[in-house]
Amino acid sequence: MATYALEVRDLHVWLSGKEILRGVTVRFPEAAVTAVMGPSGTGKSTLLRAINRLLDLNPEARVEGDVRVYGRSVYEMEPYEVRRIVAMVFQEPNPFPHLSIYDNVAIGPRLHGLARTKRELDEIVRWALEKAMLWDEVKDRLDSSPMKLSGGQRQRLSLARALALKPRILLLDEPTANVDPVNAVKIEEAIRGLVREEGLTAVFVTHMPSQAVRVSEYIVFLYGGRVVEQGPSREVALNPRNPLTEKFFRGEL
Ligand SMILES: Nc1ncnc2c1ncn2[C@@H]1O[C@H](COP(=O)(O)OP(=O)(O)OP(=O)(O)O)[C@@H](O)[C@H]1O
Ligand SMILES: [Mg+2]
Repeated sequence: MATYALEVRDLHVWLSGKEILRGVTVRFPEAAVTAVMGPSGTGKSTLLRAINRLLDLNPEARVEGDVRVYGRSVYEMEPYEVRRIVAMVFQEPNPFPHLSIYDNVAIGPRLHGLARTKRELDEIVRWALEKAMLWDEVKDRLDSSPMKLSGGQRQRLSLARALALKPRILLLDEPTANVDPVNAVKIEEAIRGLVREEGLTAVFVTHMPSQAVRVSEYIVFLYGGRVVEQGPSREVALNPRNPLTEKFFRGEL
């Protein structure tokens, strides 16, 4: 039987009084990638924000239902504790411009006291940059500014920063939407490697059916704030049961 790293139970989210998620129940198997798909405005980003408790920061947001990480409700945990286990990568690369490449990756482990010595910190930084498939490109300029990197490299740096806390679960909100195809493939490969080698569980929002089939084991299809179909990626993409899913994969939604 599959083990679930993450479970969303009857989740409702209202933003400024409007119901955006309308009772989402979905389980994310451990050590696998689940692609979350659906038309624009359907609530994909809102779902990720609710999982990671980022909606706490929005006074206009109201949340009902539950999100459980390895069986524990995130609403019974401190937000910083949730974000150590569940990291997030956004659509826009967002390295801290005033910190060096090294410090961008080291900031999380430093704040959480994960390294006792400089050497241990160096090892974490190197590990995260390697896993993000960026190490070879930056190892000779760790002290320089991230703003000298290309957009795709900056996005891989954002990934490395998220990985530096060694999260068990990674939420990715269209992480390749703003990068070129070569970088997109590197990011996809990085995620597959983390799943294979580290047992990472990933929730990967994407608009692209081809990417979903390449990168994920499972697809969850959201429409109008509800899950209308979920299952193994190839089945959902090639043989959808719901007419809305079928329309979406034909490019008509
Ligand atoms: N602060 C807010 N107040 C009210 N409505 C909001 C707010 N933020 C987002 N929304 C609405 O919530 C809905 C879901 O937005 P969300 O960003 O989750 O969609 P999405 O599926 O990620 O879309 P996209 O594919 O375009 O990224 C949208 O209709 C959006 O207009
Ligand atoms: Mg979105």
